Amino acid sequence: MEFSTLLEERRSIRDYAPDTSVSAEDIKKMIYAAQQAPSWKNSQSGRYYAVITPELAETLRTTCLPEFNRDRTVGAAGYIVTTFKSGNAGFRPDGTQTDALGNGWGAYDLGLQNENLLLKARELGYDTLIMGLRDEARLREMLSIPDDEIMVAVIAIGKRASNPDKPKRRDIDEIVKIF
Ligand SMILES: Cc1cc2nc3c(=O)[nH]c(=O)nc-3n(C[C@H](O)[C@H](O)[C@H](O)COP(=O)(O)O)c2cc1C
Repeated sequence: MEFSTLLEERRSIRDYAPDTSVSAEDIKKMIYAAQQAPSWKNSQSGRYYAVITPELAETLRTTCLPEFNRDRTVGAAGYIVTTFKSGNAGFRPDGTQTDALGNGWGAYDLGLQNENLLLKARELGYDTLIMGLRDEARLREMLSIPDDEIMVAVIAIGKRASNPDKPKRRDIDEIVKIF
């Protein structure tokens, strides 16, 4: 798919078609795409927990998401919980922070990875919703996520049931200064 088409077609989807599934093979293709992103000293600190077994995905939806996102992901085929290893990106080998951003660099790297993942999902015919609102403690318990990983977003994966309008973007001149 043409890159510009892919960029335009990706939307945050909050209305999923029922009875869809996502294979482990396709999940690995998405994670492979994520892995191609640049990262601080190639530290590759992102980690992924994919829940695609229907009963487990339903348990995640109903017990680990607040109502707002629970309702918007009915019919989603699966979820990917994204984390990154704390103290890697943005840190020296002796464990000290390189600058004031600290683990912010790990979050930056994970965001780069996650966008690749979303675009690959779309190329494979899936739709996604990044969710910052989630029950971290329940997800950690359900998926045995270690304490040295910082949890960031949960990404729902499924197939769109309707086509939402594109949320308006700011005018480019509002966000860029070219010198
Ligand atoms: C870090 C982050 C957290 C988000 N959390 C949520 C969320 O909890 N629930 C939700 O419905 N959308 C969430 N979104 C989706 C945004 O609302 C959406 O990306 C934005 O409105 C632009 O729409 P688009 O993705 O269709 O271009 C989140 C997006 C990001 C990047």
